[in-house]
Amino acid sequence: MITIILGSQWGDEGKGKLIDILSEKYDIITRSAGGANAGHTVYVGDLKYIFHLVPSGILHPNTKCVIGNGCVIHIETLLEEFKTLEEKNIDYKNRIFISDRAHILFDYHKEIDGKQEELKGKQKVGTTKRGIGPCYEDKASRRGLRFCDLLEWEQFEEKLRNNVKVLTELYGNLEFDLEKQLNNYKKYAEILKPMIIDASFYLNQAIKDHQSILMEGANAIMLDVDHGTYPYVTSSTPSIAGIYAGLGVPPQKNAEVIGIVKAFTTRVGAGPFPTELQGEIADNLRQIANEFGSTTGRPRRIGWLDIAMLKYSMMINNYDCFNLTKLDCLSSFEKIKIGVNYLRNGEKLKSFPASLKILAECEVEYIEMPGWKENIQNCKNFDDLPKNCQDYVRKIEELLNCPIKYIGVGFRRDQMIIK
Ligand code: GDP
Ligand code: IMO
Ligand code: MG
Repeated sequence: MITIILGSQWGDEGKGKLIDILSEKYDIITRSAGGANAGHTVYVGDLKYIFHLVPSGILHPNTKCVIGNGCVIHIETLLEEFKTLEEKNIDYKNRIFISDRAHILFDYHKEIDGKQEELKGKQKVGTTKRGIGPCYEDKASRRGLRFCDLLEWEQFEEKLRNNVKVLTELYGNLEFDLEKQLNNYKKYAEILKPMIIDASFYLNQAIKDHQSILMEGANAIMLDVDHGTYPYVTSSTPSIAGIYAGLGVPPQKNAEVIGIVKAFTTRVGAGPFPTELQGEIADNLRQIANEFGSTTGRPRRIGWLDIAMLKYSMMINNYDCFNLTKLDCLSSFEKIKIGVNYLRNGEKLKSFPASLKILAECEVEYIEMPGWKENIQNCKNFDDLPKNCQDYVRKIEELLNCPIKYIGVGFRRDQMIIK
């Protein structure tokens, strides 16, 4: 059994919560793209965990967690996450594995991320400043350092020295203290050695042995470097192709693909957002839904649900079903709007445009649904939901022609209706 969970909008849809709920039934949980730009929140009772690099299935003691070759890993951040797990008595030893082909993200990548954003001025992406872009740049330039290098010390040292030289030429002086960092990395190599494996071999073997795998998506399709709102995107492939490329497993015909979709839309950072709201409704919804970034704490931009964008998202990722999240946050609105089409000069666009200029020339066509006042956070079944709320869910299914299998009505594990 293979299940893939993907962000269907601009991120922070609530992937972590469903991954945590489902992972109890899986042998292996994987991460395959991105790095600590991701922030996946999981609540167990009142205890809150935010996972950046560690897969969100770690809380179930029987799971193994694999961080795949497609990820870029800042080791100090990973060790911090290990420390948090230790403090909460979660035994992670012998349960977390890192691909020997995954790339190491150094402090200088973060520094360069900051410098690049500054240089872009008004056109800055609004990155998480976690060094993601610069680390993938090094990967594409074929000078990146991988976890297999960490196990070959002389080679690691030589490559790192050389990289610092090259990057200083390119970006000017770096604050990176090479000698100190080399010392640190020698220690990290010892700590991480038992976790570094040939992850593609491990996973392909697991598939042969009929083990179940839950493939955790990070970031989201509209932040995909190919399919997202380029250049306001991340530097990896968070859409479905990135799952396979980032794990080194072939596409599985029988995998179930679950798209996570927030009942409205949010975005952090710069870039187009056709259904964005300003003013009172946005401010209210941000407060009600606590829409502040899990990684950077930045206020998230807020908008209505965007079906035109979701149809594009669906075309690329081919979801079998959706998890509609944060439906509870829409209680109390008199009217709820849904963006259904993009119109340009009165004509409906067939798909999501590549050109941001064309996108900016579009107007969103909305439909309006009556809201509901009842608090739905204790509803256990679909039938318990107020009629207008049920109609909202059914309308989304109808517009997307895809079933909504899970409905989030609160942040806790037990606040998930299975339809
Ligand atoms: P992710 O990056 O996709 O895992 O999402 P984040 O963790 O960044 O942001 C989602 C936020 O919404 C987290 O604070 C979750 O605890 C919260 N959340 C998830 N599902 C629900 C839900 O159904 N209702 C409410 N009220 N909160 C939810
Ligand atoms: P999860 O997994 C929301 C956004 C950043 C920025 C752009 C590029 O929690 O859903 P980067 O640091 O990747 O170079 O930033 O992408 N971004 C996210 N926004 N959730 C995420 O992950 C994100 N990962 C990247 O805000 O706009
Ligand atoms: Mg997040």
